Amino acid sequence: MTADITFRNARIIDGSGGPSFMGDVSVEGGRVTRVGEGAGAKCEVDARGMALSPGFVDTHSHDDGAFIRYPGMGFKLAQGVTTEISGNCGFSAAPFDPAGEQMPGDIAGGGATWTDMAGYFAACMERKPAINNAMLVGHNRIRFLVMGSENRRATAAELATMRAHVALAMEQGAVGFSTGLIYQPGRYSDTAEVAALASECRPYGGLYATHMRNEGDGLLGAVQESIDIAREAGVGLHISHHKSAGKRNWGRVKASLALVDSANAAGADITLDVYPYTAGSGPMWQYVNLDHIDAEWAAIVMIASCPDFREFEGRMVPAIAEERGWTLEEAVRQIVTSPRGKEVVCSHFIIDEADIETNLRHPLMMIGSDGIPDLRGSPHPRLFGTFPRVLGEYVRKRGVLSLEEAVRRMTSLSCERFGLAGRGYIREGQWADLVLFDPETVIDRATYEEPKQEPEGIRMVVVNGEVAYEDGRHTDAGSGRMLRLER
Ligand code: ZN
Ligand code: CU
Repeated sequence: MTADITFRNARIIDGSGGPSFMGDVSVEGGRVTRVGEGAGAKCEVDARGMALSPGFVDTHSHDDGAFIRYPGMGFKLAQGVTTEISGNCGFSAAPFDPAGEQMPGDIAGGGATWTDMAGYFAACMERKPAINNAMLVGHNRIRFLVMGSENRRATAAELATMRAHVALAMEQGAVGFSTGLIYQPGRYSDTAEVAALASECRPYGGLYATHMRNEGDGLLGAVQESIDIAREAGVGLHISHHKSAGKRNWGRVKASLALVDSANAAGADITLDVYPYTAGSGPMWQYVNLDHIDAEWAAIVMIASCPDFREFEGRMVPAIAEERGWTLEEAVRQIVTSPRGKEVVCSHFIIDEADIETNLRHPLMMIGSDGIPDLRGSPHPRLFGTFPRVLGEYVRKRGVLSLEEAVRRMTSLSCERFGLAGRGYIREGQWADLVLFDPETVIDRATYEEPKQEPEGIRMVVVNGEVAYEDGRHTDAGSGRMLRLER
């Protein structure tokens, strides 16, 4: 037998969390065919001194539109990411009405030609994506489609229509339902509406993934609401980008995780993800009340994308205000009320470094970048650096978790959780999504000032058996797929 690729003498980190071991891995026809002693191959890779693991899974991405605009997905591929879960925070590229009104500040990317998840998947596949994508169907998207931006409860008829949208997306392979309950229009919903919609995932084994209603003063109440929704709906709960936002709340992730642990001990089914940075990022207008602009908040905000003031990108609001002779409040008002103000994305330094470590120590904590892929601006560095940062900073430098455990949380745990069968382990018969990296040097290079820098130490990335990235070179193999929920 001749394999397509054989990695020789690699330190194999198989995704299970168990100790790594030395050996060869062969790949043929898109699958792992041998682990241990490799077969002769057309492409022999000397992997001595390198770690070989399953490709990383980004459980929290906003790359729905990026799969259309940037099918090479270089910013994720270069990190070793081979699969993403998109459609997070209630924003998903489908369902969509091409003839309808655009949702303001839709971070999933508007201007679509498709109407449903199947149409979106087909449009992505036409562009030969570099990596795999699985989708959540988003509450904000569905609510906007059915009710616009209205601040009221859904009628029975509207609720039925929204439920049908969730059910159709699940039928077409979505892995679950997401909310972003701090954002308009999702924030106008009550707990019962969300539970009713999430319950449509139940027949498929889909998850409820949530950007909770409150991540600051009201964190614990929001965790409890999420638990209640999942229990009511009869589905698993995944808490997105777990954090305790705002200085006065720092440290409270411990209480939040304790609540999760005690609910799990009592029979709940809850997991989480985190990104390894102290700044959050999102659509700026969604965080601003124009009747009462919070100057304390403005002081910790950096502008990431700003179509009307490109010169503000990558700069802190206080520096911008000083330069223009504005107060902090005026600066915020100028930015979010500019003609394309709803497209402005900001980063804000709301998270405690110690809380990141607390999060990463939790055994049910996956890694999700939450990157927002607007490459015209100065995006939060998590878009380019998340996975190498966990491996270099939190594993190698700080020893917060072991390499094997970090890889498990980036691979098998995520695949099992989101229903991505046949992925997440290095085992015979698994899909050959693989990353070869140097555990001694792997590190992020993206910073807030220079965010579009690819990491170091990622040697080779294989997606569905084809080499997608090698020593800094993107091969344009285009071997990614749209993954449908399969348990
Ligand atoms: Zn979010
Ligand atoms: Cu998000």
